[in-house]
Amino acid sequence: MIANQTIQQILSRIDIIEIVGTFVKLKKRGVNYLGLCPFHNEKSPSFTVSPVKEIYKCFGCGRSGNTISFLMEHEKYSYAEALRWLAARYNVEIEEKEVSPEVRQQQQMADSLYIINTFAQKFFSDTLFGSEEGQDIGLSYLKERGFNEEIMRKFQLGYGPDQRDVFARAALAAQYNLEYLQKSGLVVVRDERPMDNYRGRIIFPIHNQTGKVIGFGARIIRSNDRAPKYINTPENEIYVKSKILYGLYQARQAIDRQNECLLVEGYTDVISLHQAGIENVVASGGTSLTVDQLRLIKKYTKHLTIIYDGDGAGIKAALRGLDMALEESLDVKLVLIPDKEDPDSYVRKLGAAAFRDFVAAGKKDFILFQLEVALKDAAGDSGKKAELVNQMAETIAKINKTEDFTRQQDYIRQCAEILRIEEEGLHSLVNKFIRGRIEKQESRAAAQAATGESGIGVGTSQAADATLPPDEESISLLLRHEQNERGMIRVLLDFGLKAWDEQSSVADYILAECIDLYEMIDNKRLLKILDLYKNLYEKGQEPTTKSFLYHEDQELSTLAVSIMDLNLEISPNWKNHYEGKITTPEELYREDVLSTMHYVKLRKIKRLMEENQQDLAKPHEDEELMVLLQTHRHLKELEIQLTRHMGTVIVK
Ligand code: UTP
Ligand code: MN
Repeated sequence: MIANQTIQQILSRIDIIEIVGTFVKLKKRGVNYLGLCPFHNEKSPSFTVSPVKEIYKCFGCGRSGNTISFLMEHEKYSYAEALRWLAARYNVEIEEKEVSPEVRQQQQMADSLYIINTFAQKFFSDTLFGSEEGQDIGLSYLKERGFNEEIMRKFQLGYGPDQRDVFARAALAAQYNLEYLQKSGLVVVRDERPMDNYRGRIIFPIHNQTGKVIGFGARIIRSNDRAPKYINTPENEIYVKSKILYGLYQARQAIDRQNECLLVEGYTDVISLHQAGIENVVASGGTSLTVDQLRLIKKYTKHLTIIYDGDGAGIKAALRGLDMALEESLDVKLVLIPDKEDPDSYVRKLGAAAFRDFVAAGKKDFILFQLEVALKDAAGDSGKKAELVNQMAETIAKINKTEDFTRQQDYIRQCAEILRIEEEGLHSLVNKFIRGRIEKQESRAAAQAATGESGIGVGTSQAADATLPPDEESISLLLRHEQNERGMIRVLLDFGLKAWDEQSSVADYILAECIDLYEMIDNKRLLKILDLYKNLYEKGQEPTTKSFLYHEDQELSTLAVSIMDLNLEISPNWKNHYEGKITTPEELYREDVLSTMHYVKLRKIKRLMEENQQDLAKPHEDEELMVLLQTHRHLKELEIQLTRHMGTVIVK
């Protein structure tokens, strides 16, 4: 792990224009730089880089981030890799952080497993190509299936001899530790003696993104009722099934280039397609896709095309839980190949060119596909159909609206057409689900904040009631709340250190107004920024946007970037142009602070009034009633005062 000082050193040298400029041609435009966005296709530049704020934003596709996230996104680096790249660029010597004994032990275990796997991969490949048994049984089987040697070597295929412990003996003789050999799944202990686990099988090494062997799939040669077709590596420090996509290492460049990832079920499907020249393909191993796998794909492309046999169990597994893909903003298509075929057999049958055409022509949208299948199921049963309408609304509601607004509209239109229902009705139903979700998130955050814990205590009085009638207005209201919370954090970050009055700063003012932070802000992550800010500020440090821009918590840094407003940046000439006619931007910040604070305060007062009103509705003793009524009057007064104030400034 990289030491903190090193990270600080690297961050202090970052020149975003120079780094982004390495990959994108930038031109100075006012205080910012402009170029063609590297993340989407465009003819006129909308990719803006701000050297002052150290961020980039594309007004075309909406991507934004800091220098490190640029490298992560553009070069597909991990956070640590991006730092190392920058360190090399700026000649910063990397100091590694001391790690805890447990972490070190885990790293050692992982390192040992990589080394053992490398040894095993070589052993199995040598056996396949160099031994008599390997050639007679393994190689001849693979050749019979039509694989050529070049592709076998590209995927580092191998063969495990059909004997008790040839591999185990070789590994032990090479000083590999038996415990680690067992952990790697290569060796098992039977009758107190080591025994090879993959006897008489074709070996498919599985690589991680950087090409290291993390495990193996071992296929039986002649099918046998008693033995499983494949034996796979057990979960260990480096083999985590939910995060693996077979073939990603060999496919990643092609996926990037073609901006599409094909997904098949099996190892042999991947290899066959490669041999046919179709290289942007990975396999999931026949199970449902996990969020981690979807995110792995999303690092390279947003376009996922699943190629499965439509009648098999695989397609059902693949579709299960695929709604997650919508939340991840992936665009998922489905191509069904005929029953009894798989991509391996089908590409051999059609040939590469025809297979490509087949995929291109056969792509179906997975949501609409699911709908069609379910609709057939529900034929004539109006109860089932109503349930289906509800289900589709829920699915469509999962589309990330901020990123994919038109996509959601498209789905609503198409689904309404297929279901033969009114588009308007489906629209409101979808909104109902969105609203339910937002409210659930909000009340969860509130509950968490109230208890100071996570996960429990959900279900306050405002919890979503999914049976409420849909209501456009409340959605836009909720979005406005969020907008204003963001606004408050933005003014704090941008202007916090500026003067508010003679004695105090803007931060003093805002933080004093937010004595109880949790009551002012619902969004949990915004709250975290506010909390961090408060901590830093109270320690006498001077937090600015940059304190969050490079925060190690990626989510926070992304949020900070998204809050930053490039449009607000005013060119140096601005002041000269308008001097005398308009207040200067320097003065405008006070109004900005006031208007956001007023809104947030007003909302809090409204909530208190609501609670009070609910209390009032219950039976009370006279004295209690008096207090409640007084409270009501007091709150009402505050509300009037605030609204009057707000009339003088622009409410966002
Ligand atoms: P398939 O049975 O379709 O295997 O399982 P395949 O890869 O196409 O192999 P061939 O073409 O018959 O030789 C698809 C995937 O499911 C996983 C493997 O990842 C396999 O590639 N699988 C299958 C297992 O993990 N274990 C099994 O016993 C069977
Ligand atoms: Mn197959």
